[in-house]
Amino acid sequence: MSKVLFSGAMIVPVDESRPGFFTGDILVEGGLISKISEFPERITTETEVKVIDAGRLILMPGMVNTHGHAAMVLFRGYADDLPLKEWLEQKIWPVEAKLTSEDIYWGTLLSIVEMLKGGTTTFADMYFYMDQVAQAVGESGIRAVLCRGLIGVGENSATSLQEGEQFYRDWHGRGAGRINVTLGPHAPYTCPPEFLKKVIIAADRLHLPLQIHLSETAGEVEACRQEYGCSPIVLMERLGLFEQKVIAAHCVHLDDEDIQIMARRQVRVAHNPGSNLKLGSGVAPVAKLLAAGVTVGLGTDGAASNNNLDMFEEMRLAALLAKGINRDPTLIPADKALRMATVDGAAALFLEKTGQLKEGFRADMIGISRELPHAVPLHDLPAHLLYSAGAADVRLVMVDGEMILEKGELLYLDEEKIKAEAAARAAKLTGRSET
Ligand code: NI
Repeated sequence: MSKVLFSGAMIVPVDESRPGFFTGDILVEGGLISKISEFPERITTETEVKVIDAGRLILMPGMVNTHGHAAMVLFRGYADDLPLKEWLEQKIWPVEAKLTSEDIYWGTLLSIVEMLKGGTTTFADMYFYMDQVAQAVGESGIRAVLCRGLIGVGENSATSLQEGEQFYRDWHGRGAGRINVTLGPHAPYTCPPEFLKKVIIAADRLHLPLQIHLSETAGEVEACRQEYGCSPIVLMERLGLFEQKVIAAHCVHLDDEDIQIMARRQVRVAHNPGSNLKLGSGVAPVAKLLAAGVTVGLGTDGAASNNNLDMFEEMRLAALLAKGINRDPTLIPADKALRMATVDGAAALFLEKTGQLKEGFRADMIGISRELPHAVPLHDLPAHLLYSAGAADVRLVMVDGEMILEKGELLYLDEEKIKAEAAARAAKLTGRSET
C-alpha cells in the first residue's frame, strides 16, 4: 500500500478530543492514518512518500451512508410524487422484477460513482443479486456493508436465508477487508415472526449484525398493532431480535417505550430524512433518540425515493428538521451533524476505527474545495461543511489508504462507460427512451 503525506491542509478531524478544526499535515501508511500534526509542528519522513499539497483543501473523514439500495439508481425519476403503497406496488416492484444480475452490477457501479464523487467512502446496501454488488464494490475501492434482502413470505422465503448465509461465506472480508456482510431481513411486514426467528438464530450462530427496515410509516405501525397488539419495535424485542446487533432503518414512528427499548438494547438507527420526506412518511424523532443515547447515522435510502445519494444533503436535512420541528436552533449543531454523517454512521454499521481523522484509524478521508464562492469567508469549518458545502465540492477521496479520486476525477472507474451502460439499461427496464 502506498504512503501518502497530505501537507498543509485545513483539517476537520470529527474527533471529540480535537474539536473544531486546525491546519496541519496527515501521514497515511498501510491503509491507516499514522500521524497527524498541527502547525507549527510538521511531519517529515525519511522514507519515500507521495506528497500531496493540500493547502486548497479541507480534509474530513469520508461520509458513511448507513442505508440504501444502490442499484435503484436505475429507477431515479421513474416514479415520483406517489403514495408509498402505490409507488411500490404499481411502479417499483414491477420493474424490479425485470432486473437482471448485469443490471444490478451496472446500477451499483453508477451509484458508487455518484457516492464517491460526493464524498461517501462507505455505504450500506440491502438488495438482491448481491454477488454483483460485491463485485462492483471490490472493483471500485469503496467500503461497504452488504446484505441480501430477505423476504420471509412467498415461494423464495426458504432459500433466501440460505442465500444470505452463502453470500456471507463468499464475500465477507474480501476486497482487502473493505467488504463486510450482514444479514438483511427486509421488514416485519415482509418477514413474519417464524421467519425472523430463523434469521435471529443464523445471526447468532455467525455473529453477524442485522439490517432491517423498522417503523417507517404510520400505516406499518398500525397494521402491526392490529395483528400483534404491539408496535414493530416491541414485537422485535419480544422475538429476541435486539439481542443481536441491529441496524434499524427509518424508525420514523416511535413512542417513548420504543425509544427506551432501542436505547437499552443499543439498536443503531439509520436516519433517512430525504426519503422519509419525499414518500410523505414523516420525520423521525431524532432529537429524542439522541437524548436517549441511541447511535444515529444517516442514509439516503434508494435513489428512487430521494432522488440522489448526496450525504451533504441528508446531513443538512437532519440538522434543519430537528431544529425546525422542535423549534430549537441548538439541536444537532454542526459538530454533531458531522459526527452523524461519519463516525456515528460507522458505529451504526458496527465498523471499528472508521469515520474519524485520528491516528490508528482507517484512512478513509475526503478533501473539500475551499476555493468556491460559497466557501468565502471560512470562519467556522464544521458550520461551512454542514450549511454551505455540497457533494460537488469534493475534490479528493481516499479509502483504506488508497487514492480513489483526485482533482475531482475518478482514478480507476470509467465514469462515462458506467453512465452510458446504466442509462441504456434503465431505459430498457422502464420502457422509456434515453434523453
Ligand atoms: Ni430502504
